Amino acid sequence: MDVTPFWVAGKAATGDERVSVAHPYDGREVGVVSVPTEAQVEEALAAAYAVRREAAALPLHVRAEALAHVSRRLEERKEELARLITGENGKPLLWARAEVGRAVSVFRFAAEEARRWSGQVQRLDTDPGGAGRMAYTARVPYGPVLAITPFNFPLNLTAHKVAPAIAVGAPVVVKPAPATPLSALVLGELLAETGLPEGMFSVLPVPNERASALVQDERLPIVSFTGSGPVGWSIKDSAPRKHVVLELGGNAAAVVCPDADLDWAAQRIALFANYQAGQSCIAVQRVYAVGDAYDALLPKVVAAVEGLVTGDPWREETQVGPLISEDAAKRVESWVAASGGEVLTGGVRDGAAYSPTVLTGVAADSQVSCEEVFGPVLFVERVADVDEAFAKVNDSRYGLQAGVFTRDLATAFQAQRDLDVGGVIIGDVPSYRADQMPYGGVKDSGTGREGVASTMADFTYEKVMVLTGLPL
Ligand code: SIN
Repeated sequence: MDVTPFWVAGKAATGDERVSVAHPYDGREVGVVSVPTEAQVEEALAAAYAVRREAAALPLHVRAEALAHVSRRLEERKEELARLITGENGKPLLWARAEVGRAVSVFRFAAEEARRWSGQVQRLDTDPGGAGRMAYTARVPYGPVLAITPFNFPLNLTAHKVAPAIAVGAPVVVKPAPATPLSALVLGELLAETGLPEGMFSVLPVPNERASALVQDERLPIVSFTGSGPVGWSIKDSAPRKHVVLELGGNAAAVVCPDADLDWAAQRIALFANYQAGQSCIAVQRVYAVGDAYDALLPKVVAAVEGLVTGDPWREETQVGPLISEDAAKRVESWVAASGGEVLTGGVRDGAAYSPTVLTGVAADSQVSCEEVFGPVLFVERVADVDEAFAKVNDSRYGLQAGVFTRDLATAFQAQRDLDVGGVIIGDVPSYRADQMPYGGVKDSGTGREGVASTMADFTYEKVMVLTGLPL
């Protein structure tokens, strides 16, 4: 199989060491990449640093055109890319196609935001000391961005770091997840078509053991990381002077109130606990059903989960495919066994696949309750009222998103006020994410916000220029 090149300062390159990319469903080889040498990494970092001022001064129309080009090319190559994602990640085509569609939008949003990237004018003659003075505040990039991206959305979560970086005029160095480097490498190919200056982007599939050297490098003042909590927080601790953005895990909860449409709630909970085999930071994991809603909801959830189409991710109708590896599936299996809960459906492992699983009665201190399962597992618990439900949602070290199935406006506002999370979705699962809205967590779920405009703000700081002696 041909080696897929990586990208050093905008140019295709290969290294000597080869790495095979395996399909999680059957282990067959779906790609071969090579590992950048130390010298190639140095070339990428030096180029990113050298181009930083030119990048920050790039006209907005040049940035916007480059971003729009990538969006168009993703759209043109969407089926090929979806198949690439299914190949390297194992997610069913259904979800791989959705991911490419989202990446198309992320680059389009970034192109639109780039054209709106202006700054603020503020008259200072509101006070005698400011007579004839005016401030113009621009947001300027901290400098080159190190983007460390995860396996679960190998294209779109890379897009969420690359597109805003280019929009604000920041060079970006991507380190993709070792299991899924191929989609990020195609993104490099599309960026190479744009004519952005040399050094503006690199995509370096280095192994995880070499990531800390990148994190420590002073030429990359921003680290934007999506992945596991322990790794994310250790990055932040190891680089206290850097601007570190962390999008980490969660054990997302859905609250189902008696006034909700229980059929809709059950369908959505079943699908979004198991989409991507549960490997999303906002997959439904905990379900708190209020009062009588529990008795009506539980059989509906079990039936909806049993109705999901599982198996070969290449089949058009498959909704739930394998996890990223057999080890991941074994971990999920062991957590379910240790949960103390009753398995109402599922609970069977076959290689890297784990059947969609519904539990009740899990121990409050079990991993299935307290940690991020990152697998196709949910549990349902009865609570007396909304206050108890919200207390249970908050009784977690995570706080990414929560879903509240209710039609009551007061409950909706109470949820937004009282739930310790970065986002509350009313009338749907916590797994809803629109790529243009702010997205991120509190507590152990991370720090900073993504979503195109939010990331652009996050990668930049305010710089003020005061004009004096003006005839205001
Ligand atoms: C994540 O797993 O954090 C990303 C979820 C998404 O983008 O839908």
